[in-house]
Amino acid sequence: MRTIAHLSDLHFGRHNPRVADALLQDLWEIQPSLIAISGDLTQRARKREFQAACDFLKQAPTPYLSVPGNHDIPLENIFERFLSPFGRYQKYISEETAPTFVDPEFTVFGLNTAHPSRWKQGYLSHEQRQSLEARLRAAPARNFRILLCHHPVLVPPELNDLAGLTNPGSLLPILETGALDLILAGHLHRNFLTETISLDVGMKHSTLLVQAGTAISTRERGEANAYTLITLNPGEILMTVRVWDNQKFHTSIVTTYRKAGNNWVHASTSPPKRAAAP
Ligand SMILES: [Fe+2]
Ligand SMILES: [Fe+2]
Repeated sequence: MRTIAHLSDLHFGRHNPRVADALLQDLWEIQPSLIAISGDLTQRARKREFQAACDFLKQAPTPYLSVPGNHDIPLENIFERFLSPFGRYQKYISEETAPTFVDPEFTVFGLNTAHPSRWKQGYLSHEQRQSLEARLRAAPARNFRILLCHHPVLVPPELNDLAGLTNPGSLLPILETGALDLILAGHLHRNFLTETISLDVGMKHSTLLVQAGTAISTRERGEANAYTLITLNPGEILMTVRVWDNQKFHTSIVTTYRKAGNNWVHASTSPPKRAAAP
């Protein structure tokens, strides 16, 4: 069994320090195998914001794997934006902007969908796609395979007006091969869980799509701060949403998918679990 804490859109610079402290405490109590961060660690890619994100990550209990978001590219300094868009991110967060994490039970493939020529939307080049295909070929075949990127690849129709990946079609052939079990993304500051077949985009293979809300920022867009715990068991994936209730993070909903043949099929969704009466 492995547990991954999926955090997104921390937006240091527009974050709530109290929620950040509570999140660290929650992570220390859970001690996941990995903390996976799907971008937007800062608000405006300022040095002090990256320093705060770096300090936060140093206090976390487990290793982390991160990819940049559109907010992690400098906005105000146009030269820096185009000459060294990920320079600060690489200095403070991760030298590698598309890292891979290999565990005996799972592999996470980071994908950098932020691009200096696009403000909100994401973009994936032909070379990035080829690189991902090569990394997938080289990875252990029987492990859970998880893609980590900032921009959602596919979203339910009701969220289609929000900025995602400009060229999601470039990834669909990879998804159709069944090469990925799970995609972890952020950017929308909305929490949802779905899978590719139910989106009615002509996919025959189901890949689970996990969209995390904003973990600690004040840019909640109508939703409380939250993050997702991914629990990996043989043939089974549990997704537990941990929500901030102004005091601490608690479990709000648990959704279970099980492997049926080559596909992931919804097994159950649990309502909030209440503590037993004393
Ligand atoms: Fe964001
Ligand atoms: Fe974003």
